[in-house]
Amino acid sequence: THRKKIIAGNWKMNGSLQANAALLQALAAGLQVAAPACAVIVAAPAVYLAQIQALVAGTPIALAAQDVSAHDAGAYTGEVSAAMLAEFGASHALAGHSERRQYHGETDAAVAAKAAAALAGGITPIVCVGETLQEREQGQTAAVVARQLAAVIDLLGARTRDIVVAYEPVWAIGTGRTATPEQAQQVHAALREQLQHADAQDVCILYGGSMNAANAAQLLAQPDIDGGLVGGASLKAQDFLQIVAAAR
Ligand code: G3H
Repeated sequence: THRKKIIAGNWKMNGSLQANAALLQALAAGLQVAAPACAVIVAAPAVYLAQIQALVAGTPIALAAQDVSAHDAGAYTGEVSAAMLAEFGASHALAGHSERRQYHGETDAAVAAKAAAALAGGITPIVCVGETLQEREQGQTAAVVARQLAAVIDLLGARTRDIVVAYEPVWAIGTGRTATPEQAQQVHAALREQLQHADAQDVCILYGGSMNAANAAQLLAQPDIDGGLVGGASLKAQDFLQIVAAAR
């Protein structure tokens, strides 16, 4: 495959000026010893982008936001636009993480609008999809992720080829209960087929949900798993570096 793998750490609402500096220094040092074969991204709380932009300069680490507004500018209190993120060195932004869908009511249409706004502002959206435990148990996994991705494809059309997709089964997030490589591969293959119909077969599809240093290599060995979106393990430099080393 010619798809370069991506390992993205999602710090979620964690960190401080001090902790960020320590973590990034450890990551930069590790990546200097062993140059990554994959793209390495950290998704940090937006207030820290300026700090982190300075810290990652000269390193292979790229910067992402955890969310992006669907709007360009205006009366949207609390929101941050793609252009603002780009000004502070972000190249990517998560869109539709399950925690945003669950706690902030983001619908499939809202997530698609965020992905479109990100692209328009020069930011690559990492569009997150995934089923809940109840949906999996009811046999709805394929239908749910297809619906979530379809909303994005419908809005973006040919621009779909410029996004990144992350498959994150909700039941695997922060639970220590990862999807098996086979379970993940099955969904990734279905998403790949859906992207093929949208003429976006080269899009990277990341897996997320309790990925760690011990299970990363097996997941990343699957033909349609092009990287990882790592939560908890991305806060520990050694664990994150081991996951990066597993991606080649
Ligand atoms: O965005 C990252 C995911 O939500 C995965 O989180 O690795 O802590 O399960 P986790």
